[in-house]
Parts: sequence; C-alpha cells; structure tokens
Amino acid sequence: MITALDHIAIAVPDLEKAVTRFLTDFGLQHEGNEVVEAAQTMTAFFSVPKTHIELVHPLDGGGPIATYLEKKGGGIHHLCFRTDDIDADVARLRAKGYQFTSDGPTRGAHGARVIFIHPKSCDGVLIELSQPAEGTK
Ligand code: CO
Repeated sequence: MITALDHIAIAVPDLEKAVTRFLTDFGLQHEGNEVVEAAQTMTAFFSVPKTHIELVHPLDGGGPIATYLEKKGGGIHHLCFRTDDIDADVARLRAKGYQFTSDGPTRGAHGARVIFIHPKSCDGVLIELSQPAEGTK
C-alpha cells in the first residue's frame, strides 16, 4: 500500500553548488550524502516536514542520471512514493499493465528497496516506489 510521497528528486549538474543552495540559501536540514552504487549516483537528502528533497548527481560521470543531464541539463527527475509492501505493490501494478525499468526492487539510498515505474506507463513521469529499510523512516 502506498503510504506517503517519500521524496522528489532533482538531477543536478553541480552537486556541491546545489547542496549549498538548499542548505544555506533555503535553510533546509542536510541529512548527508550517500553513494548509491546500483544507480551510479551520489545523492544528497534534505528533510522537509513529511517528505524529502533528493538531489541526484552522477557518481563517476556515467549512468542514467548522466544521460539525463546531457539531454536536459537538470530538472525534476522523479516522484517517489513510500510503500509498506513493495513486492505486493509491484505485483498489483504489473497485473494492471504497468511496466517497470527493472525486474525487481534494487537497493536505494538509506538501504531502502526501490523500483521505478517506466515513464511511458505514467504519462511521461518517472515514478519510484520505495520501501524503507527496517528501523528507518
Ligand atoms: Co529517488
């Protein structure tokens, strides 16, 4: 079951500059940076009451975010819904004809299990489902 809008991710060409903007200019609490190997990204999370903003930047200059930045230069990349049972939601949505970008969930930031619904199944918007690791929120 979907339980919350977990975060909104923004692809950024200069991670340090963007972190400074959200931390210093906007005054949000920086929760830290994290490498997400499976996505080939370095991420930075900021807490906003009830949700988060995720900055995503290529880890080693490659991967899907690098391609996105080359094409678009930056921008809103995906919406993420939190779920309390990702396997059940994937099965339920697959049965309705939704297409996913991978066969099953992979490991995302904070140890969450994540999967992406293909944009062509959601009017051009990339939507992530995320089940937080036990003991996190
Ligand atoms: Co995300």
